[in-house]
Amino acid sequence: MTAAGALATQARDRLFAPVRSGNRMVMDPSVFTRRFPAQADQVAPARREVVAYAREQGAADPDGIALAVSEAVTNAVVHAYIDARTPGDVEVFAKRHPGDGIEIHVCDDGRGMMPRRDSPGLGVGLPLITKLTQRFKVETRPGGGTAVSMLFAVHDPA
Ligand SMILES: Nc1ncnc2c1ncn2[C@@H]1O[C@H](COP(=O)(O)OP(=O)(O)O)[C@@H](O)[C@H]1O
Ligand SMILES: [Mg+2]
Repeated sequence: MTAAGALATQARDRLFAPVRSGNRMVMDPSVFTRRFPAQADQVAPARREVVAYAREQGAADPDGIALAVSEAVTNAVVHAYIDARTPGDVEVFAKRHPGDGIEIHVCDDGRGMMPRRDSPGLGVGLPLITKLTQRFKVETRPGGGTAVSMLFAVHDPA
Protein backbone atom coordinates (compact mmCIF):
# COMPACT_ATOMS: atom_id res chain seq x y z
CA MET A 1 0.00 0.00 0.00
CA THR A 2 1.21 3.52 -0.71
CA ALA A 3 1.73 6.03 2.12
CA ALA A 4 -1.25 8.00 0.81
CA GLY A 5 -3.36 4.84 0.84
CA ALA A 6 -2.35 4.07 4.43
CA LEU A 7 -3.26 7.60 5.53
CA ALA A 8 -6.63 7.41 3.80
CA THR A 9 -7.33 4.07 5.48
CA GLN A 10 -6.45 5.51 8.89
CA ALA A 11 -8.86 8.38 8.24
CA ARG A 12 -11.61 5.88 7.46
CA ASP A 13 -10.89 3.89 10.60
CA ARG A 14 -11.08 7.09 12.71
CA LEU A 15 -14.38 8.03 11.08
CA PHE A 16 -16.01 4.78 12.13
CA ALA A 17 -14.04 4.10 15.32
CA PRO A 18 -15.74 3.57 18.69
CA VAL A 19 -16.16 6.65 20.91
CA ARG A 20 -15.77 6.93 24.70
CA SER A 21 -18.96 6.76 26.78
CA GLY A 22 -18.12 7.02 30.50
CA ASN A 23 -15.41 4.39 30.93
CA ARG A 24 -16.57 2.27 27.99
CA MET A 25 -15.86 2.48 24.27
CA VAL A 26 -19.06 2.25 22.20
CA MET A 27 -19.95 2.79 18.57
CA ASP A 28 -21.25 6.27 17.82
CA PRO A 29 -25.03 5.64 17.75
CA SER A 30 -25.43 7.88 14.72
CA VAL A 31 -23.14 5.62 12.70
CA PHE A 32 -24.49 2.68 10.68
CA THR A 33 -22.27 -0.43 10.71
CA ARG A 34 -23.31 -3.85 9.42
CA ARG A 35 -21.52 -6.98 8.28
CA PHE A 36 -23.01 -9.42 5.77
CA PRO A 37 -21.68 -12.66 4.27
CA ALA A 38 -20.48 -11.85 0.72
CA GLN A 39 -23.30 -13.79 -0.95
CA ALA A 40 -25.73 -12.81 -3.69
CA ASP A 41 -28.77 -13.14 -1.40
CA GLN A 42 -27.28 -10.52 0.93
CA VAL A 43 -27.22 -7.70 -1.63
CA ALA A 44 -30.90 -6.83 -1.19
CA PRO A 45 -30.87 -6.80 2.65
CA ALA A 46 -27.64 -4.75 2.69
CA ARG A 47 -29.17 -2.24 0.26
CA ARG A 48 -32.47 -2.09 2.18
CA GLU A 49 -30.83 -1.45 5.53
CA VAL A 50 -28.44 1.26 4.41
CA VAL A 51 -31.12 2.99 2.32
CA ALA A 52 -33.45 3.05 5.35
CA TYR A 53 -30.64 4.68 7.34
CA ALA A 54 -29.95 7.17 4.53
CA ARG A 55 -33.64 8.14 4.33
CA GLU A 56 -33.70 8.80 8.10
CA GLN A 57 -30.65 11.02 7.62
CA GLY A 58 -32.34 13.08 4.90
CA ALA A 59 -30.82 11.60 1.73
CA ALA A 60 -31.74 13.63 -1.37
CA ASP A 61 -31.77 10.61 -3.72
CA PRO A 62 -32.43 7.31 -1.91
CA ASP A 63 -32.92 5.50 -5.25
CA GLY A 64 -29.47 6.59 -6.39
CA ILE A 65 -28.00 5.36 -3.09
CA ALA A 66 -29.80 2.03 -3.56
CA LEU A 67 -28.26 1.60 -7.02
CA ALA A 68 -24.75 2.61 -6.00
CA VAL A 69 -24.76 0.42 -2.87
CA SER A 70 -26.10 -2.52 -4.91
CA GLU A 71 -23.26 -2.18 -7.40
CA ALA A 72 -20.60 -1.88 -4.69
CA VAL A 73 -21.93 -4.81 -2.61
CA THR A 74 -22.40 -6.93 -5.75
CA ASN A 75 -18.77 -6.25 -6.65
CA ALA A 76 -17.66 -7.54 -3.25
CA VAL A 77 -19.82 -10.66 -3.77
CA VAL A 78 -18.73 -11.32 -7.38
CA HIS A 79 -15.08 -10.20 -7.46
CA ALA A 80 -13.49 -9.89 -4.01
CA TYR A 81 -13.21 -13.53 -2.97
CA ILE A 82 -12.67 -15.37 -6.28
CA ASP A 83 -9.26 -16.60 -5.04
CA ALA A 84 -10.45 -17.38 -1.52
CA ARG A 85 -11.22 -20.86 -0.24
CA THR A 86 -14.31 -19.60 1.56
CA PRO A 87 -16.09 -16.35 0.80
CA GLY A 88 -15.64 -13.63 3.39
CA ASP A 89 -17.83 -10.75 4.46
CA VAL A 90 -18.83 -7.38 3.14
CA GLU A 91 -19.07 -4.54 5.66
CA VAL A 92 -21.21 -1.48 5.14
CA PHE A 93 -20.60 1.72 7.14
CA ALA A 94 -22.57 4.93 6.85
CA LYS A 95 -22.36 8.27 8.59
CA ARG A 96 -24.10 11.62 8.24
CA HIS A 97 -21.71 14.55 8.06
CA PRO A 98 -23.26 17.80 9.27
CA GLY A 99 -22.91 20.39 6.51
CA ASP A 100 -21.79 17.83 3.98
CA GLY A 101 -23.75 14.68 3.18
CA ILE A 102 -23.98 10.96 3.87
CA GLU A 103 -20.78 8.97 3.54
CA ILE A 104 -21.16 5.25 2.82
CA HIS A 105 -18.30 2.75 2.76
CA VAL A 106 -18.55 -0.76 1.32
CA CYS A 107 -15.55 -2.85 2.41
CA ASP A 108 -14.29 -6.38 1.84
CA ASP A 109 -11.22 -8.41 2.81
CA GLY A 110 -10.74 -9.89 -0.62
CA ARG A 111 -7.98 -9.79 -3.23
CA GLY A 112 -8.14 -6.06 -3.84
CA MET A 113 -9.51 -4.05 -6.73
CA MET A 114 -8.00 -5.26 -9.98
CA PRO A 115 -9.15 -5.62 -13.57
CA ARG A 116 -10.69 -8.90 -14.59
CA ARG A 117 -10.96 -9.97 -18.23
CA ASP A 118 -13.36 -12.79 -17.37
CA SER A 119 -15.77 -10.60 -15.39
CA PRO A 120 -19.32 -11.90 -15.62
CA GLY A 121 -20.51 -8.26 -15.44
CA LEU A 122 -20.83 -5.57 -18.10
CA GLY A 123 -18.27 -3.24 -16.52
CA VAL A 124 -20.77 -0.50 -15.78
CA GLY A 125 -20.80 -0.72 -11.96
CA LEU A 126 -17.94 1.66 -11.13
CA PRO A 127 -18.85 4.22 -13.87
CA LEU A 128 -22.43 4.18 -12.57
CA ILE A 129 -21.23 4.79 -9.00
CA THR A 130 -19.21 7.83 -10.15
CA LYS A 131 -22.35 9.29 -11.73
CA LEU A 132 -24.49 8.72 -8.63
CA THR A 133 -22.09 10.13 -6.03
CA GLN A 134 -20.71 13.53 -5.11
CA ARG A 135 -17.35 11.93 -4.29
CA PHE A 136 -16.17 8.39 -4.92
CA LYS A 137 -12.91 6.79 -3.84
CA VAL A 138 -11.45 3.29 -3.89
CA GLU A 139 -8.88 2.42 -1.23
CA THR A 140 -6.82 -0.64 -0.40
CA ARG A 141 -7.46 -1.89 3.13
CA PRO A 142 -4.55 -2.86 5.40
CA GLY A 143 -5.10 -6.60 4.76
CA GLY A 144 -5.33 -6.06 0.99
CA GLY A 145 -9.12 -5.89 0.61
CA THR A 146 -11.08 -3.07 -0.96
CA ALA A 147 -12.92 -0.12 0.58
CA VAL A 148 -15.22 1.86 -1.69
CA SER A 149 -16.27 5.19 -0.17
CA MET A 150 -19.11 7.26 -1.58
CA LEU A 151 -20.57 10.62 -0.59
CA PHE A 152 -24.27 11.40 -1.24
CA ALA A 153 -26.21 14.64 -1.01
CA VAL A 154 -28.80 15.38 1.69
CA HIS A 155 -31.87 17.65 1.46
CA ASP A 156 -30.75 19.98 4.22
CA PRO A 157 -26.97 20.00 4.54
CA ALA A 158 -27.02 22.02 7.81
N1 LIG B 1 -14.58 -5.37 -4.45
C1 LIG B 1 -13.81 -5.69 -5.52
N2 LIG B 1 -12.76 -6.55 -5.35
C2 LIG B 1 -11.97 -6.88 -6.41
N3 LIG B 1 -12.13 -6.41 -7.67
C3 LIG B 1 -13.15 -5.55 -7.89
C4 LIG B 1 -14.03 -5.16 -6.83
N4 LIG B 1 -14.95 -4.28 -7.36
C5 LIG B 1 -14.64 -4.15 -8.67
N5 LIG B 1 -13.57 -4.92 -8.99
C6 LIG B 1 -12.92 -5.00 -10.33
O1 LIG B 1 -13.31 -3.85 -11.07
C7 LIG B 1 -13.92 -4.25 -12.28
C8 LIG B 1 -14.98 -3.25 -12.68
O2 LIG B 1 -16.12 -3.30 -11.80
P1 LIG B 1 -17.52 -2.89 -12.38
O3 LIG B 1 -17.39 -1.55 -13.02
O4 LIG B 1 -18.54 -3.04 -11.30
O5 LIG B 1 -17.77 -3.94 -13.55
P2 LIG B 1 -18.23 -5.50 -13.47
O6 LIG B 1 -18.54 -5.82 -12.03
O7 LIG B 1 -19.45 -5.57 -14.32
O8 LIG B 1 -17.06 -6.26 -14.01
C9 LIG B 1 -14.43 -5.66 -12.02
O9 LIG B 1 -14.56 -6.40 -13.23
C10 LIG B 1 -13.36 -6.22 -11.13
O10 LIG B 1 -12.25 -6.64 -11.90
MG1 LIG C 1 -19.82 -4.70 -10.89
